[in-house]
Amino acid sequence: MAKGPLQSDNFCAVVVGNGAVGNALCEALLALENTRSVALLGRHVEPWDDERVVPLFVDALEPDSIVAAALALEERVQCVQMLINTVGVLHWDKYLPEKRLRDIDTAPALQAFQINALFPALLADAFSPLLRKGQPGIFASLSARVGSISDNQLGGWYSYRASKAAQNMLLRTIAREWSISHRETIVVALHPGTVDSRLSAPFVSANYPNRVLQPAECAAALLKVIGDLDASDSGTFLDWQGKSIPW
Ligand SMILES: NC(=O)c1ccc[n+]([C@@H]2O[C@H](COP(=O)([O-])OP(=O)(O)OC[C@H]3O[C@@H](n4cnc5c(N)ncnc54)[C@H](OP(=O)(O)O)[C@@H]3O)[C@@H](O)[C@H]2O)c1
Repeated sequence: MAKGPLQSDNFCAVVVGNGAVGNALCEALLALENTRSVALLGRHVEPWDDERVVPLFVDALEPDSIVAAALALEERVQCVQMLINTVGVLHWDKYLPEKRLRDIDTAPALQAFQINALFPALLADAFSPLLRKGQPGIFASLSARVGSISDNQLGGWYSYRASKAAQNMLLRTIAREWSISHRETIVVALHPGTVDSRLSAPFVSANYPNRVLQPAECAAALLKVIGDLDASDSGTFLDWQGKSIPW
């Protein structure tokens, strides 16, 4: 059987975002014995104790920084087998997700769209030369179940839901384009589950009814899902258990 991206000799990955899930993914990837390097991208990435980690600056609100990070990495590695985006925003500063229609405010709504929707597409474009033709690759981006249009039972969270739904459409469209230009790169939107993180903290109380994953559990689950993907999965939306989520 052909090797998947995670089994490549001299495995190189790009983890975008160094929040709870991003850091946990970086650690989990470093624990794989074939991992040669992990580029970790974020606004404030400190050097790691492991010299295989390449810290690079990126700000989702600064498109030039995305291109600069990709060019800086091209100077260090010839190709990567995995690009995974974990950047996302639900609340920041005084901004909280909208409870009702009249809460929508243009500036934060556009910011959510730039970070949650447009950024993954700009990343895919900037890093596409490193996802080489003719070798197995993966581009995964963390979406959210609440970005599923057909699954929307509760309402609210307009900008977050809509920007994740927009991300899903962009990923599906990239999957179609790359089925020709990057035939061996699998493109997926992943829901990480509810994870203990800064993003989820205001919404996960002690009596929260659903399971809350620790970041390391989530990272292990996502790598398992990614490891089980094949070409027919490109352009799909999966949860942390590998179950399909309706668009
Ligand atoms: N946690 C959950 O329950 C849950 C559920 C469903 C989906 N998700 C999705 O999973 C992903 C990871 O979330 P998480 O739980 O790991 O949250 P997190 O710990 O808050 O991580 C989010 C990351 O996004 C980064 N970020 C925000 N704005 C940025 C910008 N302008 N430029 C660069 N980086 C920026 C943050 O960096 P700074 O530290 O620089 O702010 C942080 O590293 C997100 O896409 C989220 O929507 C999470």
